[in-house]
Amino acid sequence: MKTLSPKELTDELRPILTRHKRERAPLVPILQEVQERFGYLPRESMLEIANFMQIAASTIYGVATFYNQFRFTPMGRHPIKVCMGTACHMRGGRLVLEALERELEIKVGDTTPDEEFSLDRVACIGCCVLAPVTVIGEDIHPKMTPFKVEEALTGLKEKASQGNSKSNKKEG
Ligand code: FES
Repeated sequence: MKTLSPKELTDELRPILTRHKRERAPLVPILQEVQERFGYLPRESMLEIANFMQIAASTIYGVATFYNQFRFTPMGRHPIKVCMGTACHMRGGRLVLEALERELEIKVGDTTPDEEFSLDRVACIGCCVLAPVTVIGEDIHPKMTPFKVEEALTGLKEKASQGNSKSNKKEG
């Protein structure tokens, strides 16, 4: 999704906020709808919600950070989701997550600076027999291990660096 100007962001947010204010909705559904609309919670959107709903921005930030369903950076072109449901967690999901953090040099909830990869943890995705499971883009990677992480990312990283060097050439 392209980055929105402050005016565009406000125009997108106003109808959502007006409706929720009319319905006196609690904060979480508002944040969920804003995240659905933008794919994440832009910082400016939280300030806008604070102003509009007349709630302190720190309260909004506190609620948003309390739930790990919310993210504060845009999704990467290749979203990576590590299942941390019980079966996956028991079979080493945490180690896979840590290996991905090391390999991508980001923390869970973040996106790489080139916006190629974002890393998130998710609850059970319903294929526990394949645990531990990681979803990269549309592809399910069953019985994932820290050793398979590099291999799983190699092709995508190569594609990304080819894409980046092409766009650098165009700019140069
Ligand atoms: S716990 Fe991971 S797929 Fe069910």
